[in-house]
Amino acid sequence: MTDNITFSERLETVGDKVTLALDALIPRVIGPESELYSAMRYAALGGGKRLRPLFVLECGRLFDVPAKRLMRVAAAVECIHTYSLIHDDLPCMDNDDLRRGQPTVHKAYSESLAVLAGDALQTLAFEILADEETHSQPRIRVALIENLAKASGARGMVGGQAIDMSATGAKMEMALIARMQRMKTGSLIQFSAEAGAIMAGASDEARQALTGFAHDLGLAFQITDDLLDAEGDPKKTGKAVGKDAAQGKASFVDDLGVEGARQHTKLLGEQAKAHLDIFGSSATILHQSIDFIVNRSR
Ligand code: IPE
Ligand code: IPE
Ligand code: MG
Ligand code: MG
Ligand code: MG
Repeated sequence: MTDNITFSERLETVGDKVTLALDALIPRVIGPESELYSAMRYAALGGGKRLRPLFVLECGRLFDVPAKRLMRVAAAVECIHTYSLIHDDLPCMDNDDLRRGQPTVHKAYSESLAVLAGDALQTLAFEILADEETHSQPRIRVALIENLAKASGARGMVGGQAIDMSATGAKMEMALIARMQRMKTGSLIQFSAEAGAIMAGASDEARQALTGFAHDLGLAFQITDDLLDAEGDPKKTGKAVGKDAAQGKASFVDDLGVEGARQHTKLLGEQAKAHLDIFGSSATILHQSIDFIVNRSR
């Protein structure tokens, strides 16, 4: 299936499909809550690289999980990711005006609607996973819900964001920076990589390989995000640059410098690739995704 398909073609196809899935899952509504749905759609349908959906689909394909089911999980992950971005941009957090090349939700709508659209996208993610269409076995659906809840909550994304906020303006040990990055960004990438293995009841060996892949890739992903903040092009990233240094955010770039951080992502990329060895040529697109992340400009 992946023969002769380049990584960018695959990413584009996945992006289009997940946008269609989200379009169907977040309806246009008439009536007093119409603005809430409108804000949810604005955030969820308005672009983004859709890398987490790609991981759900490509990792799930290793175990022959039906694409239709994987797409629902991909949409659920993207709902959580989008909610995390809406809240991350709020004035009480990073205070950003631009996201995915458009005004942030609190700028286009209001702060209260941004909080509520984020809340509603979060709960929608679990509603999607709880539906029979996602998996026929209730036990598997509960496992998906449990794993996504852990990845998103205090032990995962939200916990990492709390460390990020508390450390702003303070000096942080490298080990704690790595922990923060793995929690705020890596945990959702880890869920995306493992979801197919959960759905297929894959072997411990296969699941651990994907955990290792995501562990290294998740950290590499946040370091490249920090590098793009330091020296990226806002026309390509669709968000402001130079804000981490201005706000005193703790990052590898701050500690190792641009070149040191870049070298570190390369090393993490090589480690991530090694974890995929057991999947052979079936993991070609995943290999290419590592190169994309390490070298990305958006
Ligand atoms: C940005 O994530 C926030 C981080 C977790 C670093 P992405 O770079 O995946 O954002 P989109 O979805 O492509 O906009
Ligand atoms: C945010 O990290 C990670 C999230 C969990 C949303 P950043 O604050 O660096 O993400 P950007 O740069 O605003 O996308
Ligand atoms: Mg932030
Ligand atoms: Mg931010
Ligand atoms: Mg950033």
